[in-house]
Amino acid sequence: MNIQWDAEKYTADFSFVHQYGASLLDWLEGERLTVLDLGCGNGALTKSLAGRGHQAEGLDASGELLETARRSYPELRFIQGDAVRFQAERAYDAVFSNAVLHWIDEENQPALIANVYNALKPGGQFVFEFGGHGNNNLIHEALRQEFTRRGLTYRMPFYFPTVGEYAVLLERGGFLVRNAVLWDRPTELRGRDGLYDWIKLFIRTPFAGMEAALTEEIVRSAVAALKDPLFREGVWYADYVRLWCRAVRS
Ligand code: BEZ
Repeated sequence: MNIQWDAEKYTADFSFVHQYGASLLDWLEGERLTVLDLGCGNGALTKSLAGRGHQAEGLDASGELLETARRSYPELRFIQGDAVRFQAERAYDAVFSNAVLHWIDEENQPALIANVYNALKPGGQFVFEFGGHGNNNLIHEALRQEFTRRGLTYRMPFYFPTVGEYAVLLERGGFLVRNAVLWDRPTELRGRDGLYDWIKLFIRTPFAGMEAALTEEIVRSAVAALKDPLFREGVWYADYVRLWCRAVRS
């Protein structure tokens, strides 16, 4: 995971990331838990966790997002750390994570799961959501076609597993999967250029090193091709598929 976030733009235009995450909070069982919000971003969900009476701390790799989080919620503790490499200073009742795990390469997922395991007390719960199998399929296929048309190779930069694939990793890592679901969540993207803005913000690595003019041409062509399936009554939607899970450390 290596991306420079524009914290203000992320918070203003893509607030759905933490607003949708709010109902996942209901999957945490118990009261007044110590919770680590893994990949806390701007801290909005860390604050929601604290608002529910939990003792929540946030961890994120991005200095810029952490700065926003600390400025917004100075009463909360935010720690800088990478999800694959962090070592928790204490054992938590729960680790919570919203819209983060798809940024981690498949080969690094076992290390991440081991870190979460080590950060939990025995019986502690790992409650998370991220992009599951089929997430943004239409968007990635449109980009792939535009790359191919120009003799280029599109490498999908995210990890979107099925429930079965991820459950295997969790069980190998010492977790018991108690609840898991994969569901479609078409997600409104704000603004006339909602899809264009979303692609420019989130899909960076396939365009690394490419001339700006070619990037622009590819993104604009993909957006035009996606108008039919993803633009309805003046509103852009991204074809999100979410994987939600609650797993317990043995
Ligand atoms: C997601 O939350 O599913 C997601 C967001 C940005 C890029 C890729 C996936």
